Amino acid sequence: MKTNPITDRIYALHADVQTEDRFEGLWPLPTGITLNSYLVKGDKIALIDLVRDWGGALESLEAELTRAGVKLADVDYLVLNHLEPDHTGWLAEFRAINPGVEILTTAKGVALVNSFYNVTEGLRAVKTGDQLDLGAGMVLEFIETPHVHWPETMCTFEPASGTLFTCDAFGSYGTLGDRVFDDEFDEAEHARFETESLRYYANILATFGNFVQRAIDEIAALDVKVICPSHGMVWRRDSQKVIDRYTKYAGYRDGQREPEICVVWATMYGNTGRGLAAVIEGIESEGMAYTMHRVPNEDPSFILADAYKSEGILIAMPTYEYKMFPPMAYVLSLFDRKRVQGRTVLRIGSWGWIGGAKKEYEAAIEPLEWNSLESVEWSGTPDQDVLATLRESGKELARAVKAACATPVTA
Ligand SMILES: Cc1cc2nc3c(=O)[nH]c(=O)nc-3n(C[C@H](O)[C@H](O)[C@H](O)COP(=O)(O)O)c2cc1C
Ligand SMILES: [Fe+2]
Ligand SMILES: [Fe+2]
Repeated sequence: MKTNPITDRIYALHADVQTEDRFEGLWPLPTGITLNSYLVKGDKIALIDLVRDWGGALESLEAELTRAGVKLADVDYLVLNHLEPDHTGWLAEFRAINPGVEILTTAKGVALVNSFYNVTEGLRAVKTGDQLDLGAGMVLEFIETPHVHWPETMCTFEPASGTLFTCDAFGSYGTLGDRVFDDEFDEAEHARFETESLRYYANILATFGNFVQRAIDEIAALDVKVICPSHGMVWRRDSQKVIDRYTKYAGYRDGQREPEICVVWATMYGNTGRGLAAVIEGIESEGMAYTMHRVPNEDPSFILADAYKSEGILIAMPTYEYKMFPPMAYVLSLFDRKRVQGRTVLRIGSWGWIGGAKKEYEAAIEPLEWNSLESVEWSGTPDQDVLATLRESGKELARAVKAACATPVTA
């Protein structure tokens, strides 16, 4: 393994975590995830963000520090941009090795260091504009970026090299291996990481889209050359690319979305499935792109990613015990939590006795402020008339999505 210097005084340290565990106990990690820390060497030594004891992360961090010529006990300052345990879980053990370390974080971060780790000494609360002079020309500046991802979050900036340490912002799922810089990956690899960046955003940051945009505006005032997130690759050749990517993601919330339909569907015995096939014919006849996600077969983590970017959503499900098909209720609750709002939507579904999904569905989507086309429901299997209606509804949905995407969004 090599070291990954960003400058002769700043090093990227990363741990590749490949695990059956889910991230936040919730989101699957088929491509793994990295936990990144950064080393800044002035006369004094600062470590930016820590790791948790997870999938060999500790061993990776120690090994990478050693390769960069630093022992854990040599670190003078520990900067905690964000207190979520993926970046701090090892704090108590680290302090036991290095009791003299001074921890710098926001005032809210200090409160969390107290409550999560019972640490009350060696803490310095910092705010936007504060600086830490490491000597040898290395100065760290702090910029509060609340709610990217938790309320206490901040970014750290090293102005001489234009290096910005952003923690969860600009992050992605996916392990890196021996390479960490954007210029070390080819186009196909970047395309795979982009898919995982969107899923990471939709799972972790979507709830806080307004704050992400505010943070992006805030850092626009800095002369940023290198972006160093705490998950995923380091952007040294084209940091604007990841800023633009995150600006686009933040814009999916209230702004321009992709002209696509995210189909979320369920069927027990094929009746809703047969109706869905007719809607798809209608969508295809309009040349509209779509993605298909069956519940509960597919994990909602992936559904969220496609739903988040798509202007159109199609919900297809049967009635189940007078209510919605249960896994669909869960997906809709996630859409609410992750602010998949303002979409152009069609719902269809089969029932057997008297229906019932409609009432629960309408209550579930109320906070989402969706632009809903008229739902199509039928009993049992869809007959020719129902199939014709469904085909037409598919066309209408596709046209409505096109129209919504053609309308300029006013801020
Ligand atoms: C466990 C179960 C619960 C159901 N609950 C209801 C219900 O509450 N109201 C109703 O109208 N039909 C109910 N049905 C009937 C289904 O909604 C009906 O068979 C429908 O056609 C199923 O669509 P599918 O083939 O797409 O699964 C239920 C069926 C099953 C198997
Ligand atoms: Fe986080
Ligand atoms: Fe994180």
